[in-house]
Amino acid sequence: MSTTEAGAAGEQRVAVVTGAARGIGAATAVRLAAEGRAVAVLDLDEAACAGTVETITAAGGRALAVGCDVTDAGQVDAAVARVAGELGAPVVLVNNAGVLRDNLLFKMSESDWDTVLGVHLKGAFLMSRACQKHMVDAGFGRVVSLSSSSALGNRGQANYAAAKAGIQGFTKTLAKELGKFGITANAVAPGFIATDMTAATAARVGMGFEDFKAAAATQIPVQRVGEPEDVADAIAFFQSDRAGFVSGQVLYVAGGPLD
Ligand SMILES: NC(=O)c1ccc[n+]([C@@H]2O[C@H](COP(=O)([O-])OP(=O)(O)OC[C@H]3O[C@@H](n4cnc5c(N)ncnc54)[C@H](O)[C@@H]3O)[C@@H](O)[C@H]2O)c1
Repeated sequence: MSTTEAGAAGEQRVAVVTGAARGIGAATAVRLAAEGRAVAVLDLDEAACAGTVETITAAGGRALAVGCDVTDAGQVDAAVARVAGELGAPVVLVNNAGVLRDNLLFKMSESDWDTVLGVHLKGAFLMSRACQKHMVDAGFGRVVSLSSSSALGNRGQANYAAAKAGIQGFTKTLAKELGKFGITANAVAPGFIATDMTAATAARVGMGFEDFKAAAATQIPVQRVGEPEDVADAIAFFQSDRAGFVSGQVLYVAGGPLD
């Protein structure tokens, strides 16, 4: 563990990464453990977190699998209490859990809307509220939430764009409310990242994933799609002890500027 990533008494700081069974969340959990954090790997199904936990522990890190639906306040409070008891007080939170329910507005159901707003926005609210008391007690905290390039507007994603734009307002508000407690809040807004989420989108539009990625890459200035590690690198900066004067920011991680 690097000394810069330890608390005042030299203890290992504890991070919670939601939606960490796979994709960007898994890569972030592994990266944060490599940075010296103990990591709670949280996802809907505790058993699905085993692979991420094993990757971390095999490299000598500390990790805990936690099953929790981030839209359920009771489950969130119980999960955060369990993390505090078994791993230590969580002072780093990555709000990453997410789902898509894409549809054009005239076909979007109330359930499509509620599900997406529930996981991304209510989930980030409930997790942040549950973790902030530990951060305030520690006089240190880092909240990093996943926004998206879709926050700028994206056809077929009225629900998701609203949620990801909402994450930006939520982040800036946390930065203002919690800064005096040593807590920063920032958002990372990825463009196209190769994960199960984008693979599902390819399947939905009837394209093979390789063709879908190749087509997307032609529209990206660096001429490739992103990998989960590209996003994990940006999150690693925001959650580091060194980033204490950077707060309320949104960093697009999209291989180029966005229109
Ligand atoms: N992949 C991309 O191109 C992309 C781009 C921009 C933003 N993002 C955002 O990054 C985050 C991660 O995306 P990904 O591509 O890795 O997705 P993914 O679908 O591969 O993984 C999402 C994870 O979240 C978990 N999850 C879903 N609902 C949950 C709930 N209620 N409680 C707990 N966990 C839940 C899932 O089980 C899954 O493990 C999401 O917030 C997504 O919106 C992704």
